[in-house]
Amino acid sequence: MTHMHIGVPREVVPGETRVALTPNEVRSLADEGHQIVIEQGAGYRAGHPDSDYLSAGALSGTRADAFSADMVLQVHLAGTGSHTSDPAFAQDLGLTRPAAVLVGLANPLSHPEPVRRLAEHGVTAFSLDLLPRITRAQAMDVLSSQSAVAGYRAALVAAEQVDKMLPMMTTAAGSITPARVLVLGAGVAGLQSIATVRRLGAVVRAYDVRAAAREQVESVGGIFVDLPLDTSSAEGNGGYAQAQQEEFYARQREVLAAEVAAADIVIATAQVPGKPAPVLITEEMVRAMRRGSVIVDAAAAQGGNCALSVPDETIELSGVSITAPTNLPAGVAAHASRLYARNLANFTRHLLGEDGPRLTADDPIIQETLLTTDGQVVHPRLRTLLDLDAPDASAANNLHAVTAERN
Ligand code: NAI
Repeated sequence: MTHMHIGVPREVVPGETRVALTPNEVRSLADEGHQIVIEQGAGYRAGHPDSDYLSAGALSGTRADAFSADMVLQVHLAGTGSHTSDPAFAQDLGLTRPAAVLVGLANPLSHPEPVRRLAEHGVTAFSLDLLPRITRAQAMDVLSSQSAVAGYRAALVAAEQVDKMLPMMTTAAGSITPARVLVLGAGVAGLQSIATVRRLGAVVRAYDVRAAAREQVESVGGIFVDLPLDTSSAEGNGGYAQAQQEEFYARQREVLAAEVAAADIVIATAQVPGKPAPVLITEEMVRAMRRGSVIVDAAAAQGGNCALSVPDETIELSGVSITAPTNLPAGVAAHASRLYARNLANFTRHLLGEDGPRLTADDPIIQETLLTTDGQVVHPRLRTLLDLDAPDASAANNLHAVTAERN
């Protein structure tokens, strides 16, 4: 097996607390023969001082040491996503070696432009948010692991902010009825929100455009809301939601209005991959809610499900608070990092195989996450978004050439 020199820099995006590898994963990768350099303080906010990494077999180093490795593992992939205006983050790419392999989250479909810079720098970059949702990829599925954490956290943020208790209570001073929660979008995050507020005793109603969501909502104790909507074209390939015309969303808002008005808490998680999140709650709908009720817009990073959401702020309108956190997993740094690190270590093993980076074009796990290699943007959807010509015929061959060269 090819042994790699793996670097883990400290995350510098504001508000980020996670770390790409935890000591457990460092230990197993080190046992497999890889040499790992952790930037000093990288795991500190996730509960892991440098000494934990040293005991797990890593070396401690500077930021430049971590970035000069053969393979750099991150949460936010250097210089990409929505954080490129942050100078420290933007400069990171300059610290990498052009032949390096970079793995992290780049959110490239929403922020394609920075991917050009990865190509110009020559790195081979993978964005794990593009991982196909196939059975074989589940152990690497960072979207699922981080969405589960986000859904849990969204429920707690809502419970903390609402002016009611969630469970039913019978006391000498009278009885209290359980809080009413509405969850919009019952994917990985929404289902975890439902399960979490159920554990706290709330009554939960939930809606999703995907037909399969009904059974999943019920399996975690929620009540599926029937809306008079034609959702026959709302479900696309692979069981994902598909973007709809504005008329569909207008009708959805109309039929959702009474549900929203009756809720003490709305947790909104509705998203469509690669598209802005649908607006499901208008100002008028917020005004119809009871004073003291709350909306947690967990889709804020993709533009939000509430028209009033301001990213990373809590605003108030007619006594209703609207919170729009863009990085919910960062609120549970230790567990979010643990799951992310396991996903990342599994991806690393898959990529390296026995003989070093395998950029084989027939593997969907590699093909769909690979952004750039050998100076080119190779991801077809990104090439279209960036208005690049069709990849030259040698692009696929280049993948193999790079592999061969590394081996
Ligand atoms: P997501 O984060 O992209 O979206 C969240 C939810 O919002 C989805 O359930 C979507 O249907 C829903 N939604 C979109 N527009 C909506 C609207 N207008 N109103 C109400 N709800 C709306 O989705 P997530 O959680 O990443 O995954 C959803 C799909 O992916 C499901 O089919 C799930 O079974 C599948 N999946 C498959 C995995 C696998 O490895 N095979 C792993 C995880 C998810």
